[in-house]
Amino acid sequence: MQILAIETSCDETAVSIVKNGRETIANVIDSQIEKHKIFGGVVPEIASRMHIEKINACVQEALNHASLETIDAIAVTYGPGLVGALLVGVAFAKGLAFATQKPLVGVHHIEGHIAANYLEHHDLKPPFLCLVVSGGHTHLINVKTYTTFEIVGKTKDDAVGEAYDKVARTLGLQYPGGPKIDRLAATGDADSIKFPKAMLNDGYDFSFSGIKSAVLNYVNGEKMKEHEINAANVAASFQKSVVDILTHKTIKYAIANNIKTIVLAGGVAANSSLRSNMRSQATANNINLYYPSLSLCTDNAAMVGSAAYYSYIAGVRSNMSLNATPNLVVGAKPATGFAALHNNI
Ligand code: KG4
Ligand code: ZN
Repeated sequence: MQILAIETSCDETAVSIVKNGRETIANVIDSQIEKHKIFGGVVPEIASRMHIEKINACVQEALNHASLETIDAIAVTYGPGLVGALLVGVAFAKGLAFATQKPLVGVHHIEGHIAANYLEHHDLKPPFLCLVVSGGHTHLINVKTYTTFEIVGKTKDDAVGEAYDKVARTLGLQYPGGPKIDRLAATGDADSIKFPKAMLNDGYDFSFSGIKSAVLNYVNGEKMKEHEINAANVAASFQKSVVDILTHKTIKYAIANNIKTIVLAGGVAANSSLRSNMRSQATANNINLYYPSLSLCTDNAAMVGSAAYYSYIAGVRSNMSLNATPNLVVGAKPATGFAALHNNI
């Protein structure tokens, strides 16, 4: 079964064709990063306009790899994300599904990030514990089946990627700051500055706004004292606090619940320190660890095509009332998960 999938929730116009949820036939990504960089972050109005400009060409390019007649269903991310950006993908997908009379499947963006792993790790199947870390999300999710999810922890304030981007800005690094902090941290001393590890031993929820402010206060304090700031040390110390928290809670939950497989997903899963720290902790505790290759960590449509396949075979169908849902709640119905959310639209 081949699914054509569309992803426009933030600043990537992405279209993919995915076979049976596991094989990427086409993966077109048109990134808007260069346009948003000059503003220090994603400008929603510009994002929507650029999606409109690019979506047609991206779909055409994907269809160079498989003809429209061989496509069995159309999938699209319908939330969470920027409403104007989501609307472009949703409207296009509805139009294409209507014109071709093919089934339409709305996909939850986080469900997509998790499914990115299925495209590369063909032995990976639920159940497993997934740490979803991106610019907009920080969730610890018990993935019970392909379509049944239980949120066991989430951020109470900033997403971890957001904290990375803000700290990068404080250090004068351009958006998106995560990869730049990652690289800079490799040259710094992670033990040079003690930043807080909020809620380290306090359940499975996260908080990253405190550490973000602590970095800002540290940098401003040093500037007032006319001290030179060692940006590499700040980056390394910030990253150590964040990675320690993420690793500690994920491993703790896995051990407490006898979970033998941990999966990382989302843009911050590209972080070298998170990958290596989680790898050594997982190995020490006899836990399998999976994460996508770098290009599948950040937003793409192949992950949407994979998630859509599992929703489709579980019976999920969207209709022409599918709408962009910027605050689509994750795990609002933990007993049945995203499938229930899809069916409610
Ligand atoms: O998944 P994604 O592309 O978009 C959302 O769904 O939010 O994630 C983007 C986020 C950005 O905050 C970016 O700075 C962060 O992922 N990121 C990283 C790295 N690569 C991307 N953060 C830390 N280390 C990285 N290597
Ligand atoms: Zn994302």
